[in-house]
Amino acid sequence: MTLDAARAALSAAQRVAVLTGAGVSAESGIPTFRDAQTGHWARFRPEDLASPAAYQRDPDMVWAWYAGRYRDVLRAEPNEAHRLLARLEADKGGGFFLATQNVDGLHARAGSGQGGGRLVELHGNLLSGRDEVTGEMFALPAPEQLATPPVSPRGHRMRPNVVWFGEFLPDDALEAAQQAFAAADVALVVGTSGVVYPAAGLAFETLERGGLVIEVNPEATELTPHLSFSVRDVASRGLAALLT
Ligand code: APR
Repeated sequence: MTLDAARAALSAAQRVAVLTGAGVSAESGIPTFRDAQTGHWARFRPEDLASPAAYQRDPDMVWAWYAGRYRDVLRAEPNEAHRLLARLEADKGGGFFLATQNVDGLHARAGSGQGGGRLVELHGNLLSGRDEVTGEMFALPAPEQLATPPVSPRGHRMRPNVVWFGEFLPDDALEAAQQAFAAADVALVVGTSGVVYPAAGLAFETLERGGLVIEVNPEATELTPHLSFSVRDVASRGLAALLT
């Protein structure tokens, strides 16, 4: 497949599904997870920070790590990649679906989910906390107040509103994503290493039904050999090459 053919397929597609990962927010200054030098998992073990067992073992340490990520998110702005995906949604309307693994809220801030299509945050959202007793979501206090776990207005400790290793994704979000990728004429996989399931498996929902899957990533990933086409570039430039 050539870049021109990929561009033509995207332009003609009625139904487009997009999966994004941390790479889409890298140009907003937010570290990825598996980058060999700067990734979170290059410095910590995920099971020591992003798992129910880690939280039970040492909630203060887990919150201290999330406070740092929350600070990164509050300082970050959506970048051109986020904006190009919001523009693609405006073009495709109800035929557009964006499933993100990111918890930074930048897609919503760029307008995704508000242009007629749908946005689901498969791994939750760092901007709110969850009451550990009632399960209700509440806004988090300022990062500097997160040295100890925050308490909800109901008086219970809150946990980060994200999906940890070993936990299930929200059923409705995953089901909607699986249906959208199964129905997609073209799927885009942008800025993800494609190693965490079930999110990474969404690409195969499209492929198995004869849809095209196009990757945008400066590096090859485990998904690359299975996909229709890869744009070997960063998200903002790779999406611009496909969409403008
Ligand atoms: N543009 C596009 N892609 C980029 C950029 C960029 N500027 N910079 C890095 N990348 C790519 C990397 O090559 C890598 O393939 O983004 C990908 C980031 O991969 P990960 O760090 O593994 O992040 P992600 O795929 O989102 O991880 C999935 O794992 O730790 C869990 O829950 C966490 O949601 C996360 C999940």
